[in-house]
Amino acid sequence: MEIIIVDNYQKMSEIGALMIKEQIKKKADSILGLATGGTPIGMYKELIRMHIQDFLDFSNVITFNLDEYVGISRQHPQSYYNFMFENLFNHINIDPKKVYIPNGSEANLQLECKNYEQRITEAGGMDIQILGIGTNGHIGFNEPGSNFHDKTRVVQLSESTLKANSRFFGDISLVPTLAISMGINTILSNSKKIILLAHGSEKAEAVYGMIKGDVCSNNPASLLQLHPNVTVILDVQAARKLDNNKVLKK
Ligand code: GLP
Repeated sequence: MEIIIVDNYQKMSEIGALMIKEQIKKKADSILGLATGGTPIGMYKELIRMHIQDFLDFSNVITFNLDEYVGISRQHPQSYYNFMFENLFNHINIDPKKVYIPNGSEANLQLECKNYEQRITEAGGMDIQILGIGTNGHIGFNEPGSNFHDKTRVVQLSESTLKANSRFFGDISLVPTLAISMGINTILSNSKKIILLAHGSEKAEAVYGMIKGDVCSNNPASLLQLHPNVTVILDVQAARKLDNNKVLKK
């Protein structure tokens, strides 16, 4: 893993956006795997800025999102579908037909998962997959206990994730308990490059386990050690448990 430690959230966001920009410049029809949550919002703002000021062109870009809640409609303010349009897609020139997000309100969820997985494979996988990390080490919605063989599927959210995400819903009882998520296998075997962003001291423990811990499904992010091309961009708080002298600082 390449580890980059920066001073703050803004720098983390800028470096992540720059890597995406370089990818799009190299290949206009790049396939991006995108994430939700508080972490990538700054990076999406930076991409919007690049689109407006530097004419970064998204018209040929294809995107696949990691996950979506089950049981709320796409129009729900907290759906990941809505999140992506509010925080990125509405502000850039992406073709909505090239945007893929699992649909958690489909009647046949198993079929939705199977089709989603197939679409990713048929597209040829992600040139860059963006990830955040949960305080319990989850990536996408792959909670502790997820394993290396998991494909896109319906998952049960853990108590700690429900608690963490209740900040967006106002009350924990309103957070959906199920979601569709790309599996660890989907991510590892279809991504040419993975960029994981983390900021803030609440992530320090999970980040430490991901980088220094054993590869183990108790911390799903540690399975990223099995991928040959992962860059982790951390602010100093998220990196506080690592030996800072041994990693690249920008
Ligand atoms: C959410 C998402 C993840 C995200 C993580 C961290 O539940 N499913 O994709 O990386 O939790 O979220 P945040 O960036 O808000 O800390």
